[in-house]
Amino acid sequence: MIGSDMKEAIARLPEGIRERLRQAGRLADESGLDLYLVGGTVRDMLLGRSRKDVDLAVDGDGMGFAGRLARGTGGRCTPHSRFLTATVDLPEGNSLDVATARSETYERPGALPRVAPASMDVDLARRDFTINAMAVSLNGRSFGELVDPFNGLDDLRKRLVRILHDRSFIDDPTRLFRAVRFERRLRFRLERGTAGRFREAVSEGMIGNLSGPRLLEQLKLICVEPDPWPVFNRLERLGALKAIHPALASDSGLETLVREISQSGDLASSTYDGWWILYLVALFRPRRAETLEGVVDRLKPNRRLRKAIEDMSRWSGVEQAVESGEIDTAADFCRAVRTISEDTMLFLSMTHPEDAIRRRCEAYYRHHRHMRLSIDGRTLKELEIPEGPAYGEILDEVLSMKINGEIGTAEEELGAAREIWSRRNNLST
Ligand code: CTP
Repeated sequence: MIGSDMKEAIARLPEGIRERLRQAGRLADESGLDLYLVGGTVRDMLLGRSRKDVDLAVDGDGMGFAGRLARGTGGRCTPHSRFLTATVDLPEGNSLDVATARSETYERPGALPRVAPASMDVDLARRDFTINAMAVSLNGRSFGELVDPFNGLDDLRKRLVRILHDRSFIDDPTRLFRAVRFERRLRFRLERGTAGRFREAVSEGMIGNLSGPRLLEQLKLICVEPDPWPVFNRLERLGALKAIHPALASDSGLETLVREISQSGDLASSTYDGWWILYLVALFRPRRAETLEGVVDRLKPNRRLRKAIEDMSRWSGVEQAVESGEIDTAADFCRAVRTISEDTMLFLSMTHPEDAIRRRCEAYYRHHRHMRLSIDGRTLKELEIPEGPAYGEILDEVLSMKINGEIGTAEEELGAAREIWSRRNNLST
């Protein structure tokens, strides 16, 4: 459903936002500036898709305009001067991202661009795809008029992702990943010439020009898509996964893992913020340690992701001990996995192929890792147990009994502590 009339698309916006856009347009008129909705906001409005961000661009000083808009609306302005942008948080809770229209020049392929203020025409021409290179005027007289110099609307209708110029993927290889994300998310296709330039850029090694953190950011963005697997799969078929690291692949194994993770939402708490880590662990899964090291070297992950990846190798040792029966009770299991990353344990709870082991991981993740005793050193003192290293050992043993389900209540903990102490006493006399 592509509204041929942008005004219809504006009419579909929530009333609060629509009113704010009109207000922003009036302020732009008073300031003698041209103000536009731009980029993904225009694309999604035309497609009738809802989105969180509203992106505006000003042909002129965007940051100054954002400051005035914040004052005019009773909101708050946070400038990001390096990028010539500012966020205006509106009193009712929404926010508007305001940018200064700009040019971008790439000193070398894959480097971050140098930005400078420029006209709106130049700003649209520096963008990635035709469907993202449209603007909508918000000024009073032209309110709702579409500016579409690259026929983006036509490509939206044809459901095509098309670059604006042949060097696009070379200038900015993150666009390779963006192209596939949009293609899969919107169920579009890469336009033929674009697909050709895509393959050339990959085979000419352009992905190698991206720094580890920029590449990782792109993988992370894939992981927060509603369905990451088709994106990985398409990247694989276009040769882009292997270009990150030769050992990376998207196969039916990855598909199963991604589906299992997506369907295990109830295992993680509502505040869990590591979904992207789980998907990346799935992508890097049963690789040999040297391969994992290679991937880590390439992507330079933050400490949390690095630990989750590395702990997959540590987990293999625990798994063998569980299978051989060397680790038997829940408390032994707990002790063995205590220093393994919580993300890794959640991943295993969601995906381990053997039910029995998956249940153990789940019990640990859901219950045992949080288990605490109601008694402590003070309680032991009240029992007249002499202070010393025995305290830690007794409490540890009581906790093991609790994890193993042998005791439950505070009273039972106390009884167990007393019994352990008298047993130790009897042994030593
Ligand atoms: N853009 C670009 N090249 C990039 C990144 C961004 O040309 N490498 C432009 C596109 O016009 C894009 C806009 O900047 O629409 C905003 O970028 P971003 O927020 O990343 O993209 P959205 O299109 O808003 O994507 P999403 O729907 O995923 O938020």
